[in-house]
Amino acid sequence: MNLPRKVTIIEVGPRDGFQNEHIFIPTDQKIRIIDALSETGLARMEATSFVHPKAIPNLADAADVMTRIRKKEGVLYEALIPNLKGAERALQAGVKNVKLVISVSEAHNKSNVNMSVADSLNNMEEIARLAKAHGMRITGGLAMVFGCPWEGKVPVSKIEAIIARLLEVGAEDISLGDTSGMGDPAYVSETLNHFVDLIEAGKLSLHFHNTRGTGLANVLAGMEAGVTMFDASIGGLGGCPFSPGATGNIATEDLVHMLQAMGIATGIDLPRLIEVAKTVQEVIGRPLPSSMVKAGPVPWSIRK
Ligand code: COA
Ligand code: ZN
Repeated sequence: MNLPRKVTIIEVGPRDGFQNEHIFIPTDQKIRIIDALSETGLARMEATSFVHPKAIPNLADAADVMTRIRKKEGVLYEALIPNLKGAERALQAGVKNVKLVISVSEAHNKSNVNMSVADSLNNMEEIARLAKAHGMRITGGLAMVFGCPWEGKVPVSKIEAIIARLLEVGAEDISLGDTSGMGDPAYVSETLNHFVDLIEAGKLSLHFHNTRGTGLANVLAGMEAGVTMFDASIGGLGGCPFSPGATGNIATEDLVHMLQAMGIATGIDLPRLIEVAKTVQEVIGRPLPSSMVKAGPVPWSIRK
């Protein structure tokens, strides 16, 4: 297998996970968890999103979270932004790194941000101008890249055009999301192969929901295609407790465990990360899908 020696993991639980919790997680608890995650060796984290508080009530405290977390040297903290209003709020809260989100599926983009893909892209230009004028770092985040429940397999040409546009407006890297967990390793390889001339693999990150159990296998396919950045959420947080079948991202500690057991460095202290996952479970008051919390690591995975 053609595998990297080192991988960067982007923790997205405080955004992708917390946004789906129906009971409000007190701001102090969110901050406590983010601060604990910062001490595990993680280099990058999506801490919150500046979306409409009616759309995502649990992240209504985005500004408070962003200003009060202890920002550890060397950790990149980012916030998700759906529109210009979100960018303005992020700017006010002193956010330095933004992830501009857009779905490659018309139906999903409409339900998510109430815009067509074309309108979202035009908006991105305006947001990017504002962000760059204030020295923000921009990431482009694409949702539904590996299958959409309403539109099936979105054509690669459409995905390519969106990536190209985001690079044009100044995105430094691009996250490809399997929002619906419909991807499989062959689908992932095939899709990534289309992008080799468009974007170097080192600028891509992959975001897998484990809805159908293919998340870690998809990571392997991503690494074989040269990708070295992967999103994951602590404990496997995510999915909607009131929507049967919806599932979170692959659990960060399960991903770290697999990689480190394989000899691929993550820079993360696994036992410490598992402790944070247990804390998250206590805070949200229900069991999480994490295999590490249930079974614990194999001894040879405990290395950085
Ligand atoms: N934060 C706070 N308020 C916002 C906002 C934001 N990011 N975007 C819009 N608003 C406010 C506007 O100021 C306006 O307020 P007003 O009525 O007091 O003037 C109102 O919401 C309506 O604005 P509009 O631009 O018409 O928004 P919309 O109703 O079309 O909603 C979104 C669009 C993007 C705000 C909303 O769909 C959203 O937040 N979606 C996020 C979904 C999400 O996070 N999904 C998961 C992550 S991928
Ligand atoms: Zn997601």
